[in-house]
Amino acid sequence: MQTKHKPMTNVATEMVENQNQAFEAWVKEMQQHIESVLDKSLPPTDTIPKRLHEAMRYASLDGGKRVRALLAYATAEFCGASMEKADAAAASVELIHAFSLVHDDMPCMDDDDLRRGKPSTHKKYGDALALLVGDALQSLAFQLISEDLHIRSPQKIKILHLLALATGSRGMAGGQAIDIDSVGIPLTKDELETMHLHKTGALIRAATLMGAYSAYRQDEDKVKAADHFSKSIGLAFQVIDDILDSEADTATLGKTAGKDADDNKSTYVTILGLDEAKKLADELYTNAMAALSFYGPEADLLRHLANYITKRSF
Ligand code: IPE
Ligand code: IPE
Ligand code: MG
Ligand code: MG
Ligand code: MG
Repeated sequence: MQTKHKPMTNVATEMVENQNQAFEAWVKEMQQHIESVLDKSLPPTDTIPKRLHEAMRYASLDGGKRVRALLAYATAEFCGASMEKADAAAASVELIHAFSLVHDDMPCMDDDDLRRGKPSTHKKYGDALALLVGDALQSLAFQLISEDLHIRSPQKIKILHLLALATGSRGMAGGQAIDIDSVGIPLTKDELETMHLHKTGALIRAATLMGAYSAYRQDEDKVKAADHFSKSIGLAFQVIDDILDSEADTATLGKTAGKDADDNKSTYVTILGLDEAKKLADELYTNAMAALSFYGPEADLLRHLANYITKRSF
């Protein structure tokens, strides 16, 4: 029988394809947008100390997937905040992330020569300046939030607090400390989870919650949902990072592949094996999606991001 309507399955596939294309376009647009926000926020290279400013820009511009900024913007959208309200959250979390990468690559940490497809900051500018780049990017992150004119004061204090906690010894820096203390020591699955939740999960969780607090006022249920979502997706992010370190190649990653094994690090791949690590990433993806189950299209960007984070190839 002839029908002028397309079969349902084709229509459904087309809808999914359209949604994926719309999401990809949003990612590109937001990546360009955050690049220009960061460009405007970083001191120019003709301001002294010129070389420090040049190195800060080298470490934070023109590279990276900008996942943390995307999470801040997607959560802002979920919570009804405009993009410009979330700019300070998105930019500051990317600056802290860039600082963490500069220090992570230094010879006293992971000793990695390649980052985002370019020589690591210390390879280009030397160890002393790389150390200062990290310090200066960290302060700039807090400066940007404190100077922002879009966020109301109570929310601003909350955002500053979230970022401070996620960056310090109870967050990223603490996780990095556990990481360097554990070299050559096989961790249990629980210990590994604690390390990953701190070194990577904390900043991803903060990015998400900072997006939520960029809104004029907060719906507590939405904040809780975003928080549950971010805990699972933050851990999933590092599980995938561990998998990619062992499976992908240096050219695709833009950083040295196989570094964890070379450095004798405990990772989800060494503790669980590749297949189980992949199953865990799927489980965490399912948990993240479940956290949004009460919500409609307003949570779609977060849903797409969960997929992007767990299915990524670099
Ligand atoms: C790499 O983070 C370091 C981790 C915390 C696992 P990303 O994979 O987000 O790095 P960029 O920002 O895209 O370069
Ligand atoms: C780093 O973890 C987490 C940070 C806080 C920067 P990794 O050491 O696994 O990150 P990559 O693989 O070098 O990007
Ligand atoms: Mg490391
Ligand atoms: Mg590293
Ligand atoms: Mg890694």
